[in-house]
Formats: sequence, C-alpha cells, structure tokens
Amino acid sequence: MELPFAEAWKIKMVEPIRKSTRAEREKWLLEAKNNIFMLKSDQVYIDLNTDSGTGSMSDRQWAALMLGDESYSGSRSFFEFKDVVTLLTGFQYVIPTHQGRAAENVLFSHLLSKPGMVVPGNAHFDTTKGHIESRKCFAIDVTTPDAKNTQLEVPFKGNVDLVKLEQVLKENQGNVPFMVLTVTNNTVGGQPVSMENIKATCELCHKYGVPVNMDSARFAENAYFIKTREKGYENKTIKEIAKEMFSYADSMTMSAKKDGLVNMGGFIATNREDWYEGCKRFCIPFEGFLTYGGMNGRDMAALAVGLMENTEFDMLDTRIQQVQYLAKKLDEYGIPYQRPAGGHAIFVDADKVLTNIPKEEFPAQTLTCELYLEAGIRACEIGYILADRDPVTRENRFGGLDFVRLCIPRRVYTNNHMDVIAAALKNVYDRRNEITRGLKITKEAPLMRHFTVELERLK
Ligand code: F0G
Repeated sequence: MELPFAEAWKIKMVEPIRKSTRAEREKWLLEAKNNIFMLKSDQVYIDLNTDSGTGSMSDRQWAALMLGDESYSGSRSFFEFKDVVTLLTGFQYVIPTHQGRAAENVLFSHLLSKPGMVVPGNAHFDTTKGHIESRKCFAIDVTTPDAKNTQLEVPFKGNVDLVKLEQVLKENQGNVPFMVLTVTNNTVGGQPVSMENIKATCELCHKYGVPVNMDSARFAENAYFIKTREKGYENKTIKEIAKEMFSYADSMTMSAKKDGLVNMGGFIATNREDWYEGCKRFCIPFEGFLTYGGMNGRDMAALAVGLMENTEFDMLDTRIQQVQYLAKKLDEYGIPYQRPAGGHAIFVDADKVLTNIPKEEFPAQTLTCELYLEAGIRACEIGYILADRDPVTRENRFGGLDFVRLCIPRRVYTNNHMDVIAAALKNVYDRRNEITRGLKITKEAPLMRHFTVELERLK
C-alpha cells in the first residue's frame, strides 16, 4: 500500500487555544465594531487573519536565537543573514528592515522622488499601494484578466498582463521609476507567477528602461508552484528556481514574516549600487543602522535559518498540501473560492456566497463576521473595504474581487483544524439565503482604512 502524505516535521511545543460561546462572540464582535482586527486574540479560536509573522519557528531557529550577535554595528548575525540572502537571490547589497512595509518605505523614499509618478504592478499589496499613493503617485494594476474569473482553473493566475503593462509603460514614458512584481500575487488569491511571465515582464520593463522590484514575501511558495506546474522545472530545486526568478529582477523587497519563517523582519536586496546608496540615506533614520535596520541580531540569526529551511521542497509541500486539503473540503461542500487554491490561503468568493448583499454593503466583510460568529474563526476581508477609495474621485473601488481570505499560518494548525474551518463555513453557506443585510461604514481612515474601519450591522 502506498504510504499517505504527512508533515515534514513533528511538534515539540504547543500553545493552548480556547473555544467561546456564540453569545460571547456576539458581544466581542459588537465591541470590535465588526472589524476583526479589533478583536483580542483570546477571543479567537482559530486565527486565519494572516500568515504574516504567525508561523512556528523550528528548533534550529530557536537555537540560532541564542547565538544572535547584538552589536549595534558590524553584527555577525547580519553578515550570516546577508550571505544567505545573496546565496538564495544573487543580490549582493542587503538592507535589513523591521518588516516588509518598512522595506517599501525605504526603497520608495529613494525611488518615488516626485508626485505623479506611475508604478505598474500585478495587484500591489495594500501597504505597497499605500506607500505609492501617500507619495501622490499612482499604482496601476496590470494583473492578467484571468484572475477576475474565480472559477477559471489556470496554473498561473498571478501573472502580469503583458499587453496592459506595455500600454502603461508606453503612455507614461519617463515617468515610471519601477514596476512591482509580486510573487505570489497575494491580492488575487496567493496565485503564482510563472517563470515565463517573470522573464517576459522583466524584459518588457527593461526594454522601456524601467527596473523591476520583486515583492518577494512568498517567493518560495511561488518557486514551489513553478516546480510543480511549469514545464522544464520539475527537476530543479526550489533554491535553483528562486535564484532564477531573482536573476531577472533589479531588486527585491521582502516581508520575512512570511517565507522567512520569522515573526518579525524584512529586507531590501539589489545589485544596484546607486539604489543601495540611496536606500542607506533612508534606512538609517527610519529603521536603524545598516547592520540591523530594525531587527535584533537574534532575529537576523533566526531569519537566516528560516530562509534556508523554507526553500526546501518538503517544507513547502507540507504547507501547500494543507491549503489544498482545506480546498478539497470546500469543494465537497460546493463553496466557491478563487481556483485553484493559492499558496498561503483560500480566498472565498463572497460575492458568489452572499448573493443577497449588494456591493455597497460589503459581502466579504459580512461573511467574515458570520464565520467569526459561527465558530470563533478569524478570517480577513480582502475585498471592497481593503480596496479603499479612489485617491482622486474618493469613490469606493468596487471594480475588483470581494474575498474572505482563510489564511493559513505556517506549521501552526493541523488538518483537524482545517476540518473545523470547512464545517463552520459550510454552516454559514447553508444559511446564506437568510443573510440579507450587510454592513455600513461608520468611521474610516483616509488611507489603509481596513485596519481601523468601524462598521455597523444593517437591519
Ligand atoms: N507585500 C506582500 C505581498 C504582502 O503580503 C505583505 C504583507 C507586505 C508586502 C507587507 O509586509 O506586513 O511585513 O509589512 N502581508 C500581510 C498579509 C500583512 O496579511 O497578507 P509586512
């Protein structure tokens, strides 16, 4: 008999979690103003808010913490971490930052030198867009239209639409300081970008003299999908594939809280000396000296180990097979999500579930609240609230997709938890026709409103 699949690790330490009653959750959600970011973690049973900084470190990472060098300058841990980044990416210059958005802040402070500049990208992440728009520049989405059809089963839904990209590059010549290529594409469902598309995108940008910054938060998961889905890569290692991905780009910004397997950390890496020099000017005042940039020495030590571990096939296979296990359960129950399942999460297509709720009443946010009330599961809205308002017209952006993201932390939950998540969602799905009213915003910030938005349940 063929042996079944199992995790590529065993558990050494556990953290107790607790269930709650529906009455408790009703009260807590009301106090949180229907915004799951405002819930306390003790009010949550299974936390699928994010896979960012929520993973479990390995025994080797914990051991590395003890060896961290906390020198203000010249820290040994920095050089060990930098060598790993260079080994995996080929980039020689490495600037540590305290997380991914800090890397964006430092690099964009150097590159977005005047208002009105245009930065195309395959669905910029919200902080990326925030850093562009707060500088009065424009983030233009050039993701493949395939990503809009959630039921279309194609292997690389995170790809760039090269025709759209070329149009943006042509129309804005001299005004595009860089392009952002996000791997995997978080916003459209953790969907990967093929090597063919990475190469073609970078070549096209370079033809117009535009450099490419790879937003690499989940680069290892992207490499896994290239290995398992793209012809010619089946026999390459994840490390070889990652290195080829980066070889086409000019720089990377990294949220190490995802594929770096640490709870906090980030960095910028590049081979462009001029960018390195430019970034230095912003890293020191914003983040800290160049050999720590907001991280402890021990954090850099753990990150060096995390990057090496998470670019091993078995580690990624364990993770992505768990996401696919949950997807299969949802298939059994007929619950629609962005197909195929993404690398770090399942993105439930809320528009197709809560069909009685108009866009103006935020179906995905409503479904997120329902799932919390059902079982204490905290998912997160990647939809109309997160899409924010158009910076010029100030109208809500309803043009994209409205997802509930079930985001799976790395090495944290078991497949039994996946069963609970699927069952809870099925219960909500079964009573979807009884859910006829959504939510109304009562308070919102001018930028990145989803973190602090306050909402009221409509009756
Ligand atoms: N880029 C991508 C693609 C991201 O997914 C994130 C964060 C960032 C940049 C910013 O990194 O959080 O370290 O500052 N994504 C998290 C999420 C928050 O839940 O998807 P950060």
